[in-house]
Amino acid sequence: MNVGDKHYHTIWLNEDGRSVDIIDQRWLPHEFRIVTLKTVPDVAAAIRDMWVRGAPLIGVTAAYGVAIAMTDDASDENLERVWHELNETRPTAINLRWALNEMKRVLSPLPPPERAAAAYARAAEIAQEDVALNRSIGQHGLEVIRGIAARKKPGEPVNILTHCNAGWLATVDYGTATAPIYLATEEGIPVHVYVDETRPRNQGAQLTAWEMNGHGVPHTLIVDNAGGHLMQHGMIDMVIVGTDRTTANGDVCNKIGTYLKALAARDNGIPFYVALPSPTIDWTVKDGVKEIPIEERNGDEVSLVQGKLADGTVVQVRVSPEGTPAGNPAFDVTPARLVTGLITERGIADASPEGLKALFPERPV
Ligand code: MRU
Repeated sequence: MNVGDKHYHTIWLNEDGRSVDIIDQRWLPHEFRIVTLKTVPDVAAAIRDMWVRGAPLIGVTAAYGVAIAMTDDASDENLERVWHELNETRPTAINLRWALNEMKRVLSPLPPPERAAAAYARAAEIAQEDVALNRSIGQHGLEVIRGIAARKKPGEPVNILTHCNAGWLATVDYGTATAPIYLATEEGIPVHVYVDETRPRNQGAQLTAWEMNGHGVPHTLIVDNAGGHLMQHGMIDMVIVGTDRTTANGDVCNKIGTYLKALAARDNGIPFYVALPSPTIDWTVKDGVKEIPIEERNGDEVSLVQGKLADGTVVQVRVSPEGTPAGNPAFDVTPARLVTGLITERGIADASPEGLKALFPERPV
């Protein structure tokens, strides 16, 4: 995506050829800061503390973390150690483990002196593959938007509800749920995006709204509780969200609050789509509610809200009484039965074992 007149991926190799540069998302939309990750602890902190976030992007970041580790010590022991250190940073998004396994698959058979170069090459490929997956998801999702637009009066926008940030900032480029929106906008289809603020960390208010502004996509920020009301009043034509892990049965784990949007969508007969790159499918898990580990984050994310003062200082303010404990489950699971379709890079699948198997016949379920 462009920031000013420069095109940025969300992660890239530093000019030293060893470290990686990232956009530090903790400061958006107030400040656009780039930081360099030089060591494995830097990479682990960036993922754990959400300088980078979004399932595909944390996978790519971890892949570069393995590459950095291999320049220090390319032994089997160090490969195993870094795999565990990075895998422990965030538990829910499966792309993290997918990318770490992918690095191990490529590096393990190689003699240690060849591992660092191979690791940087594979990490760069994973990043490029992510861009291509999102573009394909965009094309398939665009068909859905075109279909809705065709039933509208000329000039009337397709109204889309999104949750969290499954955008450029959650991936390397384009985003998953945002890719169809960006392609529709490029094609001149009028869309209007209702952006859930997405408490507690406000990824919608801070990141998705910033992306929509940058792309010139008409949008309205709403509080998390407004979606059902808008649906009842015919103001939403479709919901599209991303996912951090989708099971072989089509259960969708995504940012907390997604399930409630899916329930409201079903009650109002509104299509609920999930943008799903295949590295986000966990083929080993069937029942999402019982089997997916849900990250429990620090309660301070609920009690404190970040914002910018009139003088430009970015601050955190407390919104609850001192001493009130806060619970903070970061994700929930939307059962497959509430999902209209999974928009993958290979086409749109039914959210069912048969639907996913038809598009990915090579995967043993
Ligand atoms: O906690 P985050 O910000 O890393 O969670 C990200 C999400 O839940 C996104 O909405 C999801 O789509 C995964 S990224 C495409």
